[in-house]
Amino acid sequence: MRVSVSSLLVALVAGAPLLGAQSTPPDSSRSTLNGVFTEEQAAKGKDVFLGHCQSCHTNADLTSADFRADWVGKMLSDFFSFLKETMPESEPGALSNEQYAAVTAYVLQLNGLPAGAVPLATSADSLATIKFEVAPAGLALNRQPFGRAARVRFHTPARAALHRDERR
Ligand code: HEC
Repeated sequence: MRVSVSSLLVALVAGAPLLGAQSTPPDSSRSTLNGVFTEEQAAKGKDVFLGHCQSCHTNADLTSADFRADWVGKMLSDFFSFLKETMPESEPGALSNEQYAAVTAYVLQLNGLPAGAVPLATSADSLATIKFEVAPAGLALNRQPFGRAARVRFHTPARAALHRDERR
């Protein structure tokens, strides 16, 4: 699916009110803690996940300590580009930019991050100013059962099979 210039413009213009009245918004200070996707987008992302990711991944893969070590502190553009270039592993790049953005929103939601009024943009360039941050462990914002999820991650047969496949 192609992304029209007009849909990108809509995303940019729609994002403007969140940044306040400044004519030169402090873009570099944007953070996933500040509501950078919508509930609706995350719900679409859940459908993408169920249809294209769940065959290989559990939710725990996308919320674990390992996951956070890889992605927290990076820019969302890094995550978006990684998905686009490498996932689904069986068919990299097969999804639309809208679908990659939606599944990114879903992953943020799984990590306990808040939704906001404006959807995530659907290009790496537009996501380069948003830092992937999560609330410190123990804050109310963080509602995922990480302890349990982390144990499940290493004990499901599917996970073991995934690692066997990787070594081939
Ligand atoms: C055919 C199997 C397969 C499918 C389908 C698949 N993945 Fe993956 N994915 C992998 C493998 C293998 C890895 C690397 C090994 C690992 O996570 O332990 C990986 C890694 C990842 C990582 C990095 C995890 C980390 O800890 O840094 C993310 C994020 C990810 N996948 C997201 C997705 C999303 C989103 C989709 C659906 C659009 C998807 N994957 C579909 C097999 C798959």
